[in-house]
Amino acid sequence: MPRDRRAAASVPEPLRREDVLERDRNDPLASFRDRFELPEGVIYLDGNSLGPPSVGMRTRIESLLADEWGRDLVASWNRHGWFRLPERVGARIAPLLGAAEDEVIAADSVSLNLFKLLAALLRKPGSRRVVLAEETNFPTDLYMAEGLVSLLRESGAELRIVPPDDFEAALGPEVAVATLTQVDFRTGRKHDLRRLTAAARDSGIPVVWDLSHSAGAFPLQLNDDGVEFAVGCGYKYLNGGPGAPGFLYVARRLQQSLDTPLSGWMGHRSPFEFETHYRPAAGVRRFLSGTPGILSMIALEEGLRTFEGVDLEALQAKSEALGDLFLRLAGERLREFGVEPASPRNARERGSQVSLRHPYGYPVMQALIARGVVGDFREPDLLRFGFAPLYVRYRDVWDAVEALREVLASSEYEEPRFRRRHPVT
Ligand SMILES: Cc1ncc(COP(=O)(O)O)c(C=O)c1O
Repeated sequence: MPRDRRAAASVPEPLRREDVLERDRNDPLASFRDRFELPEGVIYLDGNSLGPPSVGMRTRIESLLADEWGRDLVASWNRHGWFRLPERVGARIAPLLGAAEDEVIAADSVSLNLFKLLAALLRKPGSRRVVLAEETNFPTDLYMAEGLVSLLRESGAELRIVPPDDFEAALGPEVAVATLTQVDFRTGRKHDLRRLTAAARDSGIPVVWDLSHSAGAFPLQLNDDGVEFAVGCGYKYLNGGPGAPGFLYVARRLQQSLDTPLSGWMGHRSPFEFETHYRPAAGVRRFLSGTPGILSMIALEEGLRTFEGVDLEALQAKSEALGDLFLRLAGERLREFGVEPASPRNARERGSQVSLRHPYGYPVMQALIARGVVGDFREPDLLRFGFAPLYVRYRDVWDAVEALREVLASSEYEEPRFRRRHPVT
């Protein structure tokens, strides 16, 4: 074949909307979209920040009011199993993590859960006093670690925050515990859980993973990958509602060896004995602190029902395919407007979120939202798009790119109303 024809043959034909509709018709997860209440006319690409309500949510919350709290009042703690809800919800999260049911508990926020685990690991006897983190960890993780070491400064505790590429070299004998966010909330870049956990373990260092952008976005195999500790978020891909409880995972064999410093009565071995001193509950329940927010727990339990019967391999495949499609269309249709990809091209190296860079990222995103395509913005120039495989369709990806193209081509983002800064971006 002549050289120019060969070159032409290697460039794929530009996609058409019809090709994308065909993918929706062949999508094994297509029917799961019906499990969500999504507003008409909106393309929702921000499930990496807040998942939408499920169709069962309204009825479940109403029944909680009418048939549990509203009728049985305090007896509901026993009659409706509220006392065991943190474990019950944890057991529903476990299969998404590749963990056993008794290794996961729903509790508190990601920030607090991380604090509890880091503190428990830093308290272990020995001379290691450094908490190791890397710069792309979610900021709350860094802030909580900062607060923890400031409490323990007199014992020599220190926080070391290194660039991602220096992380492995920093796994030295002075490190007591490391913490990593698996999926970078800015770029969607995904760390290799298995490899980094093993590298740290070779140096005798436990790692606490933040799986906030992982759980429910793609399947995890925490047990098989040798992961010992993790925390994560209930309000993103798990669809638990704004401010939903987080979760905490501790490998079963390690649960008895750790004590949380936030030793509240709900993690006590027998809270209703009202003893003077704390004794930890057996198992993962010891990581509870105070009374859980039952309304939020119930909402998270209901949100998790959207995963019932989901083939996790299909979830993985769709998560990758949606991101690939978006990156391809962005390359074909947006490049002329100064839009650059900020996420890895290789789907195996990304979570379910893809980010693009544009110098006017904030007003561009506001203009896009005004057109009904909801993503979000992260400083300094990142347009973020979350592709939750249970409800995002291939056609949504196409239409979102077209809407973005129109926003850029028309320069409508230059309108002053799109420059107004909101507290949440
Ligand atoms: C990776 C990650 N960790 C933690 C959090 C927030 O944690 P919290 O539930 O404590 O607010 C977020 C919020 O977006 C996040 O993206």
